[in-house]
Amino acid sequence: MKKISICECSEADEIRVLTPKQNIYSLYSVEQISDIINYLKIHHEVPRQYNYFDKGAKSWDEYVKRLAIENAENTLRSTIELLRISESYIDSLLDDYSSVNIIDVGSGNAYPVRNILSSLLNSGKLNRYIALDISPSMLELAKNNIRTWFGDDVVFEGYEYDVTKGGFSSLIGGKHSNDINLILLLGGTLSNMRYPNKAYKAIHDSMSANDISIHVNKLDTEVNRKYFDFNMPDNMQLSPNHKLIFELLNIDETLYDVEMGYDAMIRERYIRVRLRVTIRIEFILKNEKRDVSIQKGDTILLWRGIHHTKDSIINQFDGNNFSLKRTYQTENQDYILTMSYIK
Ligand SMILES: C[S@@+](CC[C@H](N)C(=O)[O-])C[C@H]1O[C@@H](n2cnc3c(N)ncnc32)[C@H](O)[C@@H]1O
Repeated sequence: MKKISICECSEADEIRVLTPKQNIYSLYSVEQISDIINYLKIHHEVPRQYNYFDKGAKSWDEYVKRLAIENAENTLRSTIELLRISESYIDSLLDDYSSVNIIDVGSGNAYPVRNILSSLLNSGKLNRYIALDISPSMLELAKNNIRTWFGDDVVFEGYEYDVTKGGFSSLIGGKHSNDINLILLLGGTLSNMRYPNKAYKAIHDSMSANDISIHVNKLDTEVNRKYFDFNMPDNMQLSPNHKLIFELLNIDETLYDVEMGYDAMIRERYIRVRLRVTIRIEFILKNEKRDVSIQKGDTILLWRGIHHTKDSIINQFDGNNFSLKRTYQTENQDYILTMSYIK
């Protein structure tokens, strides 16, 4: 059946008709492209998770490598530091178990988990390292890093997985009675999501009673409301990672202005664009035409960072049926690590 798309533009408005690049159809599944279409249509938003594919993974990798050598507090260094200061307590929780599985949800390039894998390897307790990530390119980067750091001592298990689409128990299989799973969620991945509770539920539903979930989050401060550190060459340019989907959709930079800021009402930082012209993007999905029209002057959200206080994090865990065991904060209180069981 042929669909008719209705554009409510005034006749004076120029409408730019855009056809996505062909490789969008090979990079993403039909379901993922449907997601992109629906998010654009309903929320005027690019779902963040799809920006980590292909060149987006490469640009994340370069960003993390820059953070690793930067002589300043940043997400990567703070995460590594929090895992270091909590290590002896984690070890005490692992005392009763002979083997430990690390399940790294949204693994990225695996940089933050290098030390914890090393320690578990040295103590002879590391059983499996399982990386779960939506992006195949990111899993490839993680796999190469694990091989470079540990050779054959750590067997890399990577699975393409979307944490907003349900639990991961069936992917990773069962465990023995004397095993424990440490589920890591590092890098503030859930703070970028429109519906973070879907991910909390998926993680919760994949854990058994003795498993421990470890999250690291950035905390709200006056300073970080103003600060965007994601490889911006200058303040009003989109980074390659944020531009990935736009490039695939052929939305070039003459069509929009970039806006970045903090919305105090919803306590989120945002990176969005405001369209200079009305656009209509024409997708072909399963031989059917699917259009998305967005008006001149409207915005498209490319990134959100939900700002959390320590209390709001505790409430979020509580509301998602986690039982918070302990928290650690960096010296300047900018980052928090939480350890929880399921209720
Ligand atoms: C902000 S990065 C964090 C990476 C890593 N944990 C770190 O701390 O460096 C987010 C990672 O999660 C992945 N990701 C984003 N949304 C996801 C989702 N819905 N399901 C699974 N992985 C996702 C991305 O591909 C990316 O590798």
